[in-house]
Amino acid sequence: MEINLSNLASPPSSPPRDVFGFNAFLEAAVARGYFYDFPIANGSSGSRLHHGGRELVNFASISFMGFQENSSVMDYFCAAAKEYGLVTGGSRATQGICMAHATLEQTMNHLTGMEHTVTFGSGLLANIGFLNAMTVQFKFDSDCKVDNRDAVFILDRDCHWSLWKGASHLEHGKSLFSFQHNDPASLEATLSRITVKKKVVIFESVYSSDGSVAPMGALLDVCEKHGALSYVDDANGFMIYGPPNRPYHAEYQEMRRATFRMVSFSKAVGLEGGAISGPREYVQPFAFLSGTAIFTAAMQPPTAATAVHLLEKLNSEPELMDNYLAKVAQFRGRLLQEGFRLYDSESYILSIWIGQDLVAENVRQFLASNGFAVPVFRYPAVQRNRAVLRVILNDRHSSRDIENFIAMLREARRQFGF
Ligand SMILES: Cc1ncc(COP(=O)(O)O)c(C=O)c1O
Repeated sequence: MEINLSNLASPPSSPPRDVFGFNAFLEAAVARGYFYDFPIANGSSGSRLHHGGRELVNFASISFMGFQENSSVMDYFCAAAKEYGLVTGGSRATQGICMAHATLEQTMNHLTGMEHTVTFGSGLLANIGFLNAMTVQFKFDSDCKVDNRDAVFILDRDCHWSLWKGASHLEHGKSLFSFQHNDPASLEATLSRITVKKKVVIFESVYSSDGSVAPMGALLDVCEKHGALSYVDDANGFMIYGPPNRPYHAEYQEMRRATFRMVSFSKAVGLEGGAISGPREYVQPFAFLSGTAIFTAAMQPPTAATAVHLLEKLNSEPELMDNYLAKVAQFRGRLLQEGFRLYDSESYILSIWIGQDLVAENVRQFLASNGFAVPVFRYPAVQRNRAVLRVILNDRHSSRDIENFIAMLREARRQFGF
C-alpha cells in the first residue's frame, strides 16, 4: 500500500525556524556522512527487504527466526486479533490488560522460574520503567508512601541506551556508578566503596553491539557478596541460550541467581514487547510504579497472544533454535576463514570489526548499493572509531545468500581497507 505524504495538511502557521538548531545539526550530519535518511521498506521486512524497488538480502533484522514471514504465525496473529481485538483501548490505569497479557505474564513466570512478571510495550520501556520504579519517591498519604531516592545503581559501562536513559536523573558518583565492561574485578572495586543498603547492579547477558556475553557467575558472586540486587537485561539471549547443548549453558544456569530478568520479545520471538520477571514484592508494584506500564498502552493483544504461541513453539521445538545456531556457527567459521576480524564470542551476533566510523559508513553504503542491508554500529552506539558491521544471520538465508555476501564483503575490504 502506498501512502501519499503530500496529502497531509501543512501546519496553519509556521513555527519559528530552527531555534533549537536541529536543522543545522541534521544538515551538517548528513553532509559529513554521520547520518543518513533511514530507508523506507516496501512490504514486509524479513530475510529480504525492498527499498525503492530494489531487493536487499537483509542481514540487519534482529527478528532472525523469520516468524514474521511464516503464514501459520500470521494466521495465529489474525485469529488472536479477532478474539482479543487490536488494542486494549488505553493504559493499564484505565481498564487494565487483557487475558492475552495475563497468559503471557504467567508463561514468563514459568519460563524464567521467577515469581512474577509484568509486560511492557517494549524492552526499552521495561528498562526505563525499572529504573523509574526503583528510584521512585511517591506518596498517597503519610501512611502510604515509598521513597527510594537513597538507592545506588551500578551499571556495566556498555549497557543499552535505555538503561542509561532510565538512570539519567541520578547523580554520577553519588547514586550512579559504572564498572568496566564484563569485568567482575571492576565491579568488586566499585561495590566495595558503596556502603548504602539499597544497591542494584545492572548488566546484560548478551551485548547487542559486539555479541559479548557476561561472565554471569562471577558478576553475580560479587553482587551477592556485597548484598546488592541484580538486574540482568536478557533482551538478546532470551529463548536462545539456556539448554545444555547450546553455548553459554553455564552462564544461563547462573542467571537463575539474578534478582530480576528483563527480556524483549523483538529478538528471538520476533514480535514486539518486553517484560521484567522477579520476586513478587518488587515486580508486582512495577505495574504501577514504573510509569511505563501504566501511563501508556500495553502490548497489542494479538502480539501478546502470538508471543505466548511462539514461546511455546520455541520451547517445544528446540530443534528450531538448535538448527539456527548451527547455521550461525558455520557462518562464523566462514567469516573467520576469510580473515574477517570478529569479536571473540560464540554468540549469534556477528560483529565484524571496521574501526573508523566513516570507513564503516562507506562499507554500509557499498553493501547497500550491491544488494545487502547491514547496519553499522558506530559512535554514539559505540565509542568513536570503534565501528563494527553488525551482521545477523536470518534463519531463511540460503547458503548462496551467505556466499554472495562474503564475496561482497571481500570486495568492500579490498576497496576500503578494514
Ligand atoms: C540489550 C538491550 N536491551 C533492550 C533493548 C530494547 O528492546 P526493545 O526493542 O524490545 O525495545 C535492546 C534492543 O536493541 C537491547 O539490545
